[in-house]
Amino acid sequence: MAPNSHRIEISPAQETLLPVESCTLVIFGGSGDLARRRLIPALYNLLLDGLLPSNYVVLGLGRTPMDDEEFRAVVRDGVIKHSRQALIEDTWNTFSKHLFYLAGGNEDAQTYARLKARAEELEHTFQLPGNRIFYLSIPPTSFAPVCEGLAASGLAGNPATQSPYARIIVEKPVGRDLASAQAINAVTGRVFDESTIFRIDHYLGKETVQNLMVVRFANSIFEPIWNHKYIDHVQITVSEAEGVGSRASYYEEAGALRDMVQNHLLQLLCLVAMEPPYSLDPDVVRNSKMEVLRCLRPITAKDVDKCTVRAQYTEGKIHGTPVPGYRREKGVNPNSIIETYVAVKCFVENWRWSGVPFYLRTGKALPLRASEVAVQFKEIPQILFNANAQSPQAPNVLALRIQPEEGLSLRIVSRVPGTRAETHPVEMNFKYGEVFGRPSPEAYERLLLDVMAGDASLFMRRDAVEASWAWITQILESWEKLGKRWLPEYQAGTWGPVEADRLIQNDDRGWRVL
Ligand code: BG6
Repeated sequence: MAPNSHRIEISPAQETLLPVESCTLVIFGGSGDLARRRLIPALYNLLLDGLLPSNYVVLGLGRTPMDDEEFRAVVRDGVIKHSRQALIEDTWNTFSKHLFYLAGGNEDAQTYARLKARAEELEHTFQLPGNRIFYLSIPPTSFAPVCEGLAASGLAGNPATQSPYARIIVEKPVGRDLASAQAINAVTGRVFDESTIFRIDHYLGKETVQNLMVVRFANSIFEPIWNHKYIDHVQITVSEAEGVGSRASYYEEAGALRDMVQNHLLQLLCLVAMEPPYSLDPDVVRNSKMEVLRCLRPITAKDVDKCTVRAQYTEGKIHGTPVPGYRREKGVNPNSIIETYVAVKCFVENWRWSGVPFYLRTGKALPLRASEVAVQFKEIPQILFNANAQSPQAPNVLALRIQPEEGLSLRIVSRVPGTRAETHPVEMNFKYGEVFGRPSPEAYERLLLDVMAGDASLFMRRDAVEASWAWITQILESWEKLGKRWLPEYQAGTWGPVEADRLIQNDDRGWRVL
């Protein structure tokens, strides 16, 4: 079926899913932003699509004192503002009867006794089998007390018996460097078995990110040319139009390299560069991705200025709205040298990718929200239609658009109709929204469902988290050695600093225009 000529209607029920048992989901950080903006809306959408288990309880746990009704009102507002599908009163009323809240501090031993009593009471009322998922949407400094509290109270279950199960979801950041990531992994690993730990990188739940493997391995035309003989370079861009917003206290400790590259961009790179796994078994796929991380050429102090650019946004306008400079944002140190933009040139040192640069860039306060992976093929020889050295033919580019216009496009050169032998690059376009009869689910919908089903394919394994931190930590330490007191700047609403243009122009290449 030609993708652009037919719309393909798919109902959620047609999806093949692993069986999902009834469970209790406890959200640590239940009164926080993530629960309100992403988690509860995701669960609500799963219910609307008929994908939630037949019976469930969601128990938010947080420091803010609230009762169940107040909690329901807060998250209802979150659903109204952030849900993919509109709030329907009847469905909401059914859903909200499964939502509960418990106020308590993560460090307070009593919290766990109360949590256990409340969970057991709700499980009795709802006739639930005792399967429990603990979502840690809290700062990593609280991971240890929470894991210990869960273990001491018996809530963490017995890792040897998986029925009823106890699983834990760990939100990022999993650390701020290799040592802290290892410490977090050690703490969670003491209480939970690796098979029950689900480390979230929500990019892996995005439909278009999952499509990267499908495009590569479900089509015969790409794999033979997916290597250094045919590919000139790869660009991975994750551009955000928003500034730091209300997250300054976290971001001041993180910056773009830790916040975005360590996880999302490196995961995209793994999916583009991995060898074909021999099966779709979660560990086989994750082994293939892991190999890519192991092959990343280290960026040491001697290369760091050549291979990375970090910068900060200054006052500007995005879509006509004035944006203050980063240092003037609420909660930001006026002398901060935290990067809000980073560009990195890196290499995967194996036979397939020998000499092929991967250019990564991400930033806040850029002109638009747009993420893509673009694979640029080599130029054709300077003969025939490319004989004029003054106006070389545009090379082929396969662009996988992750958001917002999800889909992919292939740039090819075509003849312009008419009597003159003119050529022009054209784009073949596939848009998810046009071809499939419904919008893609949000990443958190897919990921929460996978945890309920016990499928870890789209989650970060411990070794991968540590391998990517090892590579990132070397860059961070190299930056530290440079001892810079200021960073290059870019005006909010522009495509980053001139230094980032130079990074790629020095190789006679240019950033793609999005
Ligand atoms: C998060 C980062 O992981 O991803 C945020 O912490 C960033 O800083 C967000 O804004 C981007 O996610 P998305 O899905 O909007 O591209």
